[in-house]
Amino acid sequence: MTEARLPTGVGLPQALFMLILGIETSCDETAASVVKDGVNILSNVISSSLKYHKKFGGVVPEIATRHHVENIDKVVSRSLHKAGIGIKEIDAVAVTDEPGLVGALLTGISCAKAISYSLNKPLIAVDHLKAHVYSAIMLKNAPRFPFIGLVISGGHTRLYLVEGFNEFELLGDTVDDAIGEAYDKVAKILGLGYPGGPVIDALAKKGNPDAVKFTCKAVNGTLDFSFSGIKTAVLYWVKSQGSMVKNRIPDVAASFQENALRVIVENSIKALEKYKIKSFVVGGGVSANSRFREMMQREAMYRAFELYFPPLELCSDNAAMVAGLGYRLFKLGAKAALDITARV
Ligand code: KG4
Ligand code: ZN
Repeated sequence: MTEARLPTGVGLPQALFMLILGIETSCDETAASVVKDGVNILSNVISSSLKYHKKFGGVVPEIATRHHVENIDKVVSRSLHKAGIGIKEIDAVAVTDEPGLVGALLTGISCAKAISYSLNKPLIAVDHLKAHVYSAIMLKNAPRFPFIGLVISGGHTRLYLVEGFNEFELLGDTVDDAIGEAYDKVAKILGLGYPGGPVIDALAKKGNPDAVKFTCKAVNGTLDFSFSGIKTAVLYWVKSQGSMVKNRIPDVAASFQENALRVIVENSIKALEKYKIKSFVVGGGVSANSRFREMMQREAMYRAFELYFPPLELCSDNAAMVAGLGYRLFKLGAKAALDITARV
C-alpha cells in the first residue's frame, strides 16, 4: 500500500487548514479517519468484529480487544492512504478515551499516544457520546448553541443541554438498560439474532404497534430513561404465548418499538420545552431507526424546532465524528497529556 500526496488544498499553505487523524476503538469497531477542519471527511475506515460476536448474542470484550490490537495499524494506514496523505501531514491525533470497554479503549489510546509522541503532534481526548452528537451536525451548518443533544446507542440513552463543543450538561441518563441494549435483548428473546435494532426496525413495519400493550414510562418525572421493564414485559408475554408467538413477531416488534421510542420522544420534547430550546440533535446507532426519525420529524414540524440526524453511515461507531469533534476541542485549546487512560 502506497501513500499518495495530499490532493486537496494543493497550492495552499498548510497552515490554512487542519488535518486531524481520529481513532475510535471503544467497542467492536476499529476505526480511523482523517477530517479536514472538523467538517470535511477525507477518509472513514471501519473494521468491525461484529461477525465474531454474533454467536454470543452480544459484544465479547476480549474478542473486540484482540480485533483492535490485530487491526489498528492497518486501519490507520488505510485511512491515511484513502485521505491521500502521509502520517507526518496530520496536525493532531484525536482518540476516544471514554466511555467504552476498557481493553478496547486502551488499544486506540495507546496507538494515538505512540503517533503523538513519535511525531510530536498534539493528542486530543474525545468523549464517544459527545462525538455521536457531533456526527449529526458535522456535515451541515451546525445549529447555534444552545441545543438539546440526544445519544441513543447500544450502551447509552442520554439527553444533554449543549452550550458549546466542550459544554455538555447531562439532563437525563439510562438508569438500567440503554435503548439499543433493549432492542438487542428483545431481538434475542424473539430469536432474531444480534444486533437487534436493524431487524426489529424492519419487522416493525409489517406489524401492528397497538397489538400488545407493553408499558414503558419515564422515570418519575425526570428526564431519565428505563427500558428494562419493557424488555421483561416482552419476555413474559412471549413466554405466555408459547409456540403461537411465531405468527406474532412483527406485532411484538412494532409494539415494543412504538412504546419504547415514545418515551424517548416525550423526554426529548420535555427537555426542549423546559430549556426553551429550538434545536434538537440526535446521534448513536439507534438514530438510524426509521420509525424514530418519522416520530421526531412529525414533532419538529408540529412544534417548529430544527432537527438534526446524522447521515446513516455516521450513525454507528466511526472515527470521523471523533476527528471532527477533536478538531473543535483543539481549537478551544484542549490538549491531552501522554498519561491519559481509558475512562469507562
Ligand atoms: O452507537 P452504536 O453503533 O454503538 C454504541 O456506541 O453502543 O449503537 C449500536 C446499537 C445496537 O444496540 C443496535 O441494535 C442499535 O444501535 N441499532 C438500531 C438500529 N441500527 C442499529 N436500533 C434501532 N433501529 C436501528 N435501525
Ligand atoms: Zn457508539
